[in-house]
Amino acid sequence: MTDHILVERQGAVQIIRINRPDKKNALTRAMYARMSAALAEGDADPAVRVHVFLGVPGAFSAGNDLADFLVITTGGEGGNEVWDFLMVLAKAEKPMVSGVDGIAVGIGTTLNLHCDLTFATPRTLFRTPFVDLGLVPEAGSSLIAPRLLGRQGAFALLGLGEGFSAERAKAAGMIYDVVAEDSLESAVLAAAADIAAKPPGALKIARDLMRAPREELIARIEVESEHFRERLKSDEARAALTAFMTRKKG
Ligand code: COA
Repeated sequence: MTDHILVERQGAVQIIRINRPDKKNALTRAMYARMSAALAEGDADPAVRVHVFLGVPGAFSAGNDLADFLVITTGGEGGNEVWDFLMVLAKAEKPMVSGVDGIAVGIGTTLNLHCDLTFATPRTLFRTPFVDLGLVPEAGSSLIAPRLLGRQGAFALLGLGEGFSAERAKAAGMIYDVVAEDSLESAVLAAAADIAAKPPGALKIARDLMRAPREELIARIEVESEHFRERLKSDEARAALTAFMTRKKG
């Protein structure tokens, strides 16, 4: 257990809050494990009807903890927490709503591609610098993003690592709405309450029909993960990750 992930229930809404502000909500192995457990527990509990992901002011998530990646890059044991989380996310049975403010890098962007509604603030920037890090897209983003953004939009996001402002993301069909910082969480919770009030059986079927077939998504995540693990051991990734971890600030 870690207080870097806070899990709470508000009626039928389960809130998973990423809470590591000093590291811009970068996700460690323990944090992935806690999020996986929370999603699985919420899915198994009939009292929960919707999952909500939130971050802290200014940071939804700076993505995977790059120190954890560097361990793998330099020959260490990386564990399965990340890959397990991606599977749990793809298999989640209940609707998911996210509220994003500020930094949304890597999985901090791609997690939202699995959500049914994402709200973001005007200062949010979605960015996936996978290729610049010597890595490849993950979390099924190589399948979902082209369907949402078109192939060229997906290439801009996932290949070029271009930043997508909240407005651009909304116009591109990547997120549901842009709301002011001070109304982000109320907008997210109101949407979650609306979802929780729907007949869950009908909503589950409707949701499943609208999403990429799960087997296809899971197969894609497996292929991506295989490439990703290989890429983590590449010279390109080692150089990029070392450069970030040893950069001088100021
Ligand atoms: N992994 C580990 N630590 C991270 C991190 C990450 N993904 N992102 C940020 N941090 C840490 C920084 O090292 C810094 O730690 P320190 O205060 O001990 O030096 C702290 O969080 C604050 O980050 P900082 O870079 O000073 O904040 P910023 O506002 O100037 O920049 C980012 C924020 C997110 C733009 C920048 O930190 C960044 O580019 N992070 C890497 C993002 C990334 O590539 N993620 C992986 C995608 S696959």
